[in-house]
Parts: sequence; C-alpha cells; structure tokens
Amino acid sequence: MNLVEKIQELKRKRNAVILAHNYQLPEVQDIADYVGDSLGLSIQAAATPADVIVFCGVHFMAETAKILSPAKTVLLPEEKAGCPMADMITAEELKTLKAQHPGAAVLCYVNTSAAVKAECDLCCTSANAVRMVQDVLKDEQEIIFVPDRYLASYVASQTGRNLILWNGFCPTHARILPENIAEAKERHPGAEVMVHPECTPELIRLADKVASTEGMCRYAGESKNMEFIVATERGILHRMEKENPGKKFHAASKFAICPNMKYTTLEKVLWSLEDMVHEIVVPEDIADRARRCIERMLAA
Ligand code: 13P
Ligand code: SF4
Repeated sequence: MNLVEKIQELKRKRNAVILAHNYQLPEVQDIADYVGDSLGLSIQAAATPADVIVFCGVHFMAETAKILSPAKTVLLPEEKAGCPMADMITAEELKTLKAQHPGAAVLCYVNTSAAVKAECDLCCTSANAVRMVQDVLKDEQEIIFVPDRYLASYVASQTGRNLILWNGFCPTHARILPENIAEAKERHPGAEVMVHPECTPELIRLADKVASTEGMCRYAGESKNMEFIVATERGILHRMEKENPGKKFHAASKFAICPNMKYTTLEKVLWSLEDMVHEIVVPEDIADRARRCIERMLAA
C-alpha cells in the first residue's frame, strides 16, 4: 500500500475528515476532503459528521475547528505550524487596548488565538471582514480591529469607518512588493492582478481584484481573462491551475511562501492518524467565550 492509500484506509477506520487550507503543499491538498479558505474551513469544521478532524493548516485554524466542534478530536499534523501574525497579539495586550477604548466593539481576524477571541465581540475572515463592519457592527460608535493592520486599512477604505488598529501583519504577504507587480505586469501584460487584503495598501492599489483565497479561486474561474498575477501565498497556484486548465497563473513574488503552511507533509498526515497527534485542546471557559464571536460571524 502506498502512502496515500494508507492515509485513506486509516481515515475510514478513524471516521476522520481531512481539511486543508489553500496554501498547503499540492500533495496534501490532493488528499483532502475539502480545500478552502479560513471561512470555508470553519464552516466545514462546524458541519462535519466525522469524529476526527485532521487539520492541514496552522494552529489557529485547528483551534477554531475545536471550538466549533468541542466533541470531536481535532489533530494538527505538525504542532509547530503556527501563524506569526496571530502571535503578534496576546489576550493581555488586547485587554489593555480595550481598557483604553471602553465601549468600543472588538472585531478580531480569525488569525488570532482562542484566548484573544475570548476577549472579542465578533470574529471575521478576509472573506467577510467588510460585511461584518458594514452590517453587523454598523451601529457601533468605535470599533477595535485586531491584529492585521493591513486588512484593517482595507476594511476602513471599503467602509469609510475609522478603525482602532493593532500593529500586526502577515510577514508572507508583506514580502510582496509593488515592484514585483510592476515586473510581473511587464512580463505578462494582459494578466489580471489578484491581491489578498493581507497585503499592504500600496499593493492593494495595484489590484484588479481584492479577495480572500477562496474569492481568488472563484474569480479565476469566472473571469474571461486567461492569465493572472496572484499576490498571495504561492501554494494557492496548485488549486487554481488544477481547476482552470488552459489558464495561466503567475505568483507575484517567489518569496511569498508561508513556512508554517509547508510543515504539513503526507507522512505527517499519516502519523497524525496513526498516533492521533497532535490533539488540539482549548480550555472550556476560553472555548465557550471564543465560540460566541465565531458563531456570531457564521450566523451573520
Ligand atoms: P484566507 O484563506 O481566509 O483568505 O486567509 C489567508 C491566510 O493568510 C490564512 O492564514
Ligand atoms: Fe499567518 Fe500569513 Fe502564514 Fe496566513 S500566510 S498563516 S496569515 S503567516
């Protein structure tokens, strides 16, 4: 039996589902039951009838799955797979910020720890952040948005709202520079430019389309254009190429690689199912408080 067959067999035996983020290695995406963005993965995690969720992504995503499905076993094949942006704010730091702005509503990007989510009123992903501010928080006088200052500035530009920011950012998206787009456009003059809202405002200004990773995949399929420059983590190109034979996709920067997303290999997925590791545990009181802000997002 080869590695993939072993994974499939064990998956059946454990009644497990494999969820993978769009930035995962191609071979990991190919064995997953569902590949998607943070919002889609949260929805899948909440809805799955499986007993075990193998989460091929990073820690905050697996934690979100556990919070939404506390009775299930959630496994992260590589325990080192974290998100540097999520680590840029702690619950203590958020409490201090809240104390400086009493009365402000607190919106957190899903790229945060459970302890941070437990301090928040509402959660969002890059796919629905604008809508959360525009609709759900429309009557709020003041809104704190943590931790991504670039996503916050994109949301502010789309909603006209002044948000109270935190100085977090994604080191992978920040590495994509305006000159990378200029060079790519020179090489591929007819290509459309898709940019993730975790990128800097200077980059977003150069976009034909700003979207979450799922939104980018959808747009790649819908657009009549045959060529695209993709300003997000390069792993997404695998899915775009697979779903759109004949269309061409170019990574905006060769440096746009998230090392944490690449820790998960097929071997680690197998070991994870064999040894039931690494199990995600979220203390009940934190999970209960964090669940409120995630479920409020999913219900909106
Ligand atoms: P989405 O897949 O939700 O667009 O998020 C991108 C990302 O950087 C996840 O860590
Ligand atoms: Fe975190 Fe950026 Fe990696 Fe996404 S791509 S997991 S935001 S460091």
